[in-house]
Amino acid sequence: MATLFFIMLIGAALIWAGVVGLLFYAARKRRTYSEQVAGKVILWGGALFPAVVLAALLSYAVWLMPNVRPWFGTDDPGLRRIEVTGEQFWWRVRYLDQDGAALFETANEIRLPVGERVTFSLTTADVIHSFWIPVLGGKMDMIPGRTNRLSLLAEKPGTYRGVCAEFCGTSHTMMAFTVEAMDPPAYDAWLATRQSTGGQDAEGHALFMKNGCSACHTIAGTDAHGVIGPDLTAFGTRGSVGAGSLGNTADNIARFIREPAKVKPGALMPHYAMLPVAETDRIAGYLKGLQ
Ligand code: CUA
Repeated sequence: MATLFFIMLIGAALIWAGVVGLLFYAARKRRTYSEQVAGKVILWGGALFPAVVLAALLSYAVWLMPNVRPWFGTDDPGLRRIEVTGEQFWWRVRYLDQDGAALFETANEIRLPVGERVTFSLTTADVIHSFWIPVLGGKMDMIPGRTNRLSLLAEKPGTYRGVCAEFCGTSHTMMAFTVEAMDPPAYDAWLATRQSTGGQDAEGHALFMKNGCSACHTIAGTDAHGVIGPDLTAFGTRGSVGAGSLGNTADNIARFIREPAKVKPGALMPHYAMLPVAETDRIAGYLKGLQ
């Protein structure tokens, strides 16, 4: 894709320079040309040259197509599969097993094994979003009623930023996620730990349950099983609060719980400014402590 892009860019620049050059040439000469000359310029420059150039570009693009196919994923059962659902304004992330059943769910963070091609199934719960990890090159729309597939390969370990690339509402710009590309053994170790987690802070968890947080949020290994909002399992390990809106500190979590709409207009989460500050702080501390 990049090669095709640069060939087109350089070709277009050359043609542009040629056309502008001819324009200056004609302007300086201040001559009128016969109809015969004009007819030749139109025939050669306006019809034959574009036909040849466009046919060559088309052939080259068609020839390149098989190289692009792996980007759209295959049914190869050996491939790692991750399902990502765009929601206003966050990302639901499900790691799938080889039969397509969900192993577990998380939000706003994707981990990938370095050097292994991963197939993403991309859908949306509401409007059109677009899944984009600029460093890994892939971008694909998430369309209501469809599942699009995109396959990406991280070549180097690191933390990359992903964003929503389609205007989807008030907080479109606050719909980001992090991508952690890990060495495969570390990735497998992380997958294993993700199967079992729970909170240590019983009082914080009790407040979380008492205030109804579990109506929308799940924390694996506890009795919180809500599915409307982001899964909060191991929330303390995430890079941000509110899909890239704020850094992940206890203060920011408390701020988000109290007035989500001030941080992120249009977020579906109700505000909890009526709770005593001590309670929201305690819940925030509990969430920050989830490892
Ligand atoms: Cu989702 Cu823009």
